[in-house]
Amino acid sequence: MASSYSYLNFFMLFSLLSVSLACDHSELPLKSASLGNWLLTEGWMNSTMFDGIPNNDLLDGTIVQLKSTKLQKYLSAEHGGGSIVVANRTKADIWESFRLWRVNETFYNFRVFNKLFVGLENQGQGNGIVAVSKAPSSPETFEIIRKDGDPNRVRLRSPNGLFLQAKSETEVTADYEGSSWDDEDPSVFEMAISGGLQGEYQITNGYGPKAAQFMRNHWKTYITEDDFKFMSENGLTAVRIPVGWWIAHDPNPPKPFVGGSLEALDNAFKWAYKYRMKVIVDLHAPRVSQNGYAHSATRDGIQEWGESDIPETVSVIDFLASRYGTHPSLAAIELMNEPLAPGMTVENLIKYYQAGYDAVRKYTNTAFVILSNRLGGDQKELLSFADKLDRAVIDVHYYNLFSDWYKTLSVDQNIQFVYNQRAANLSAVTTPKGPLSFVGEWSADWEVKNATKRDLQRFAEAQMQVYKHATFGWAYWSYKCDDDSKHWNLRWMIENGYMKL
Ligand SMILES: *[C@@H]1O[C@H](CO)[C@@H](O)[C@H](O)[C@H]1NC(C)=O
Ligand SMILES: *[C@@H]1O[C@H](CO)[C@@H](O)[C@H](O)[C@H]1NC(C)=O
Ligand SMILES: *[C@@H]1O[C@H](CO)[C@@H](O)[C@H](O)[C@H]1NC(C)=O
Ligand SMILES: *[C@@H]1O[C@H](CO)[C@@H](O)[C@H](O)[C@H]1NC(C)=O
Ligand SMILES: *[C@@H]1O[C@H](CO)[C@@H](O)[C@H](O)[C@H]1NC(C)=O
Repeated sequence: MASSYSYLNFFMLFSLLSVSLACDHSELPLKSASLGNWLLTEGWMNSTMFDGIPNNDLLDGTIVQLKSTKLQKYLSAEHGGGSIVVANRTKADIWESFRLWRVNETFYNFRVFNKLFVGLENQGQGNGIVAVSKAPSSPETFEIIRKDGDPNRVRLRSPNGLFLQAKSETEVTADYEGSSWDDEDPSVFEMAISGGLQGEYQITNGYGPKAAQFMRNHWKTYITEDDFKFMSENGLTAVRIPVGWWIAHDPNPPKPFVGGSLEALDNAFKWAYKYRMKVIVDLHAPRVSQNGYAHSATRDGIQEWGESDIPETVSVIDFLASRYGTHPSLAAIELMNEPLAPGMTVENLIKYYQAGYDAVRKYTNTAFVILSNRLGGDQKELLSFADKLDRAVIDVHYYNLFSDWYKTLSVDQNIQFVYNQRAANLSAVTTPKGPLSFVGEWSADWEVKNATKRDLQRFAEAQMQVYKHATFGWAYWSYKCDDDSKHWNLRWMIENGYMKL
């Protein structure tokens, strides 16, 4: 017995030594901050970043509805697309909603419900308006002309130089030559704007030729070496860094994205090393959106990721692993943030996670590989798959937000919810031999209004007490945030005595 124990210990020691380069189990659980809105823009975290964009209420993905002032009816893509555009609806719903693709500050494409684009019929040969094109080109590009002093009163100049008009309820054509702003003018529309996105696509396409300089300045100033110093001095041991697919194409990513985020990520690794911190690289934004949120860098909010996007998404992971796989500060690569798209069946997700895992393992046996659960899915659905992988981690995100139900909770009910339900939920994905568990996102923001400082301290403390049982650790969302409440801003929370790690 004794000799077999020492034999075992020898191997355990050996395997610990061999991993000391990367993340060692003794460094777990990690206490991390997400560097949100740094290498991947999220406008809600600092909307003034969009102030310098002309017509910044008409960014990519903004949804508009157009009501003819003459007919008092909305434009509608019959059947949601694939047919003619009419002007006979009294109410605006999904067939009457158009998602903008911005060509430049005044020229736009209009995407309809079933993803086709509005344009001139017969590839631009006719004057009728249809919604049949799969990819927008010149016949699908319209100039939005806004009235001075009344910017939501608009006329649309079509590619043939003439104005789009609602000639009758069933006849929408591009052959009007007049130019008044009168209600009776069939080319005048009231434009309602509902919804909008402020992500990396919107900011880079919005700034256009000025985007490269704007983004590089943002990357240089938003997070600096001083932030790593601050984090390490205040008990944080790692950073989680959301990145987008274009980083793999640096320095010349496809437009509108701009190069330079890779150098910023290199700097983060350098600073992490200097301050003895670890880095979690998190692919938040594959090229085809996995969840439609601005933070997936989607152009228009449609969730289009599907099985055919696996190879391209894996190639981004391969790039990240090849660059950082042997870096002593790499803790983990997260294969994808918050999957949600309809094409994201658990089968497709597992297929992708297996391929992404294998790509990471080509370069490192020691980095952890993080698997994010599907939003709204069963949190345990990846456990049996992840069981078979070495150094896999299941990522769960916990917010007392995003459902009206949380608005009914008092201070103490929020805190009890964390100690009871959240603790149970985390325990269910924290198994003794399976993958490690990671609360990859949480924050001290909540629905309670006018809470006292003490209330907020207790809420944050309760979460840290529970989430410390996650075997891989946790990551606060976010390190920095310019919203009014400051609850999302970990640096502010620490500096002002709301949180102590
Ligand atoms: C928000 O963005 C503006 C414009 O880019 C910038 O001047 C400001 O410093 C940013 N705020 C923070 C907290 O980083
Ligand atoms: C609108 O016009 C189209 C084309 O004529 C027709 O099929 C449809 O039923 C009309 N809808 C309404 C609500 O009048
Ligand atoms: C905007 O795009 C349109 C359509 O491609 C083009 O004709 C126009 O010159 C562009 N305007 C600017 C300012 O680039
Ligand atoms: C969390 O735990 C509660 C109570 O145990 C359960 O009803 C709920 O479904 C769990 N939520 C998730 C996302 O697993
Ligand atoms: C919070 O405080 C503001 C200002 O003191 C007050 O107007 C508001 O009604 C309060 N809200 C709640 C939910 O108590």
